[in-house]
Parts: sequence; structure tokens; C-alpha cells
Amino acid sequence: MLAEGAELPEQLAGAAGAADARAGYRKLALLHPGAPERLLVAGLGDPAELDAEKLRVLGGLVAREARRYEATRVAWDLSGVAPLAPDAAAAAIAEGVILGSYRFDRYLAADADEPRSPDLEGLVLSSADGANELAPALRAARVRAEAANRARELQNLPANVVTPSFLSDRARQLAADHEAITAEILGREAIADRGLGGLAAVAAGSEQEPQLITLRYSGRGSGDVMGLVGKAVTFDSGGISIKPSQSMHEMKMDMSGGAAVLEAVGAIAELGLELDVVAVVPATENMPSGSATRPGDIITQLNGKTVEVNNTDAEGRLILADALTWCVRELGADRVVDIATLTGAVVIALGSTYAALIANDDALAGEVEEAGEVTGELAWRLPLHPEYKQLTKGTIADLTNAAAKREAGTIYAGSFLEEFVDEVPWAHLDIAGTAWDNGREYVGKGPTGFGTRLLITLAADLAS
Ligand code: BES
Ligand code: MN
Ligand code: ZN
Repeated sequence: MLAEGAELPEQLAGAAGAADARAGYRKLALLHPGAPERLLVAGLGDPAELDAEKLRVLGGLVAREARRYEATRVAWDLSGVAPLAPDAAAAAIAEGVILGSYRFDRYLAADADEPRSPDLEGLVLSSADGANELAPALRAARVRAEAANRARELQNLPANVVTPSFLSDRARQLAADHEAITAEILGREAIADRGLGGLAAVAAGSEQEPQLITLRYSGRGSGDVMGLVGKAVTFDSGGISIKPSQSMHEMKMDMSGGAAVLEAVGAIAELGLELDVVAVVPATENMPSGSATRPGDIITQLNGKTVEVNNTDAEGRLILADALTWCVRELGADRVVDIATLTGAVVIALGSTYAALIANDDALAGEVEEAGEVTGELAWRLPLHPEYKQLTKGTIADLTNAAAKREAGTIYAGSFLEEFVDEVPWAHLDIAGTAWDNGREYVGKGPTGFGTRLLITLAADLAS
């Protein structure tokens, strides 16, 4: 890696290709200092402006190049990354490489000419400080990135594979793999019996049995119990308020929040973080049928509030409402973060660069924002205000899930969710724009696993 103002080491100056080396950020040059080794010089740009995200991007770019040259091992020289601490730099690069090496090709016929991704075991990083000091940071980076890749796999898999039961099987698997995790699953009957009217109403039109997935992670923490809630609509057709067919197929990704929560809990256990986590993933399809919830139906949520379902396509808030109440009342969360592909409005407002963050607590909001800055999963806070409550007020029930006018769509949804958290500190991430097609070099087009690394980082911050 070559920072602006630095020179190539003397022994490389005469190597073939050395004249191509550039220090500009993202510039790559291939050197042949002596067969069979190849040396890729990556420009770092102005060292004063270097940050973890820039290295993550470089990691993604270099992973792509390594694949092109069919390199099976990549050794990195971390000189030049100062002023970043070597372990932070190594972690960022490792994340970029692991995220950048992910492919979804299991449904494609094998192509012998297609280069393999570089072997991650070969991810060697060296620095003046010695590789051993990097080991813990590298290991944690790897756990985070691999968890994100598992979430991306769940996002990519189609809705005829990733059903609510598929997700509850994944939760059971996590519990089987980690002693500190227990899983509890409620099916259709229990969901109705326990009074989760929102989840029952959304699932009413689907042949797939809904699953209320609860995971508990006991890390023998002495502080707050952290609650996580992730929306997992495995296919959102809109229900009776059916969506236009144009891009309906994209709605297999409406379980992205749930995938992030499941895999984050797995990673938290893998890292053995010292805190207690309770996680809820309400999983269901949203389908039209003769048994589906109708626009205008009135339902009763778990906390007793009634809702006019004026639009069956505003289903996420109905299942999250119950899951939030469950998380606080049943599981005893002291604070809660929910994550959901909740509104088209956030795509318009923030695109795929920032998720929307809505919170009733400044301290928690700040921690979520900060975790996002560390991992590159950015969140921009939108306001809550009593005036927005006008939007969510029903005419013949306590609340309505959708207003005739579409103003402040993302805040509306957040304001609706606030009714279900019993005033514990709560933060909501709307990832409808960031879950897919972010285009960053290390995730490209397709699923991003957004939130997985953020939630793991947030948990690590709370544990420390
Ligand atoms: N799952 C969608 C939101 C979404 C949109 C996710 C685009 C990913 C990309 C959500 O359930 C939905 O349909 N929201 C509606 C709500 C409306 C009917 C009030 C929306 O935002 O249009
Ligand atoms: Mn919908
Ligand atoms: Zn949805």
C-alpha cells in the first residue's frame, strides 16, 4: 500500500510494472518483482484522510483483483496505513476482503473457467507491530464479516427456500452451535393464543406457518439486557393491497432485518461478548388469499392497542409492534434496537447510503450512529414529534397502519412503532434502502447484510 508522499521501497523500484504504481486512493498497479510472486500496489491517497471505510473498500477491490489473477493467498503489507492503528487497519481490510469475496452462485452451473475467490485462510497481514498483536482484532473482524455474509446468503435465497420455518430452523441451529444461545419458536396457533394479533393478521393469507422466533444469549452480563428485533417478511406481495408486479420479486429481501438479527446473535456468541441479549424475529409471508386480512379489518395487537389495517402492504409495523412488546414485556429487554426494511419512503429520502434511524432516546441513538460509523453502515436520525401522532391515529380504532396521504412515510412508521415499546430506550433502523444494491466495492450490487456488523459492534460496545 502506498500513501501519498511515500515512495516504493528501494528493492521494488526496479521491478517490472513499478512505474505504474500510484499513491492516489483506489489506484491499483500490478508489479512483478520476481516470479512467481505478484505484488499489487494499492494507492491509499492522503494519509491524513485515511479511515477504516477506505480500507474496507480497498479490501473489496483487492479481493476482486486477487480473483482475477487466481491468487490463492494474499499477503498484505500494512506499512503506510498510519495514522490508523494497525489492528483497526487490519480488521477493516479483512472485512473488505471477506465481504468482497462473497458470491451467490449455488444455482449457477459450475464454470471451470470462473476463478475461485482467494482462500481466506491465506489472508495474512503483517505490520511493524508483529502479526500476533493483530490476531484478536482480525478474528473479530472475520466473525463480523462472515456473519454478514451469512445474512447476505439468507437475503439472496429465494422466498420458496427462505420460508418462516427455514428461519426458525436457522435459529435452532444457532442454539445447537452455541451453548449460550437458546431458541424458542411459536407457530401459528401459539401466536394467536398469546395475543400477537399483528403477526397473526399478516400471516392470515399465507399457507406458510408464521414463526415467532426468540433467541436468548447469556453472556453473563451485569448491565442492561439488550433487545434486538428484526423484521422477517419472507415475501411481501402486499397482501390484498397487492403490490404492482414490476419489482415484486425484490420483496424476497423483506426478511433482511431478521437475517441481520439472527446472524448478529450468532456472532455475539462466537465472540463470547459479556452481555445478555434477547432477540425476536417475527417471521411470516404477506400473501393475498381468501383467508387474508382485508383492508379495513380491525386487529388487536399484543399490548392491547387496536389498529385499523387500512393497507395490508403496511405489514411490517404490525409484526414489529407485537415483536417489540414481546421483547420488552416477555423477555425483559432494558433497551431495544429494531431493524426492518420498512418503508419505500426511506429509499426516496436516503437512497442506499444511509439507513434511517428513529429513536426515543438520545444516548441509544448516539451509540447506534457511532457503531454504524465504525462499520460503514451509516444511519441518519429522523425526528419524532407529537404532531406526527396525528398521522397514526385511527378513526374507529386506536391506530391506523396507513394514512391516505403518504407524507413523512418513514417517520409515520417509526412513530407507530413507538406505541409498542413501553417507553424503554428504543432505536429503529429502516433499512429498506440500504439492505440491497448499495454498490460499495465490498458488497457490490445485491444484498449488503446491512446491520449485521453494526449490531455486533453495538453489542461489543455495550459489553465493554
Ligand atoms: N417491505 C415494504 C417496504 C420496502 C420498500 C422494502 C422497498 C424494500 C424496498 C413495506 O412492507 C411496504 O410495503 N411499505 C409500504 C407502506 C405503505 C403502504 C404505507 C411503502 O413504503 O410503500
Ligand atoms: Mn409491505
Ligand atoms: Zn414489507
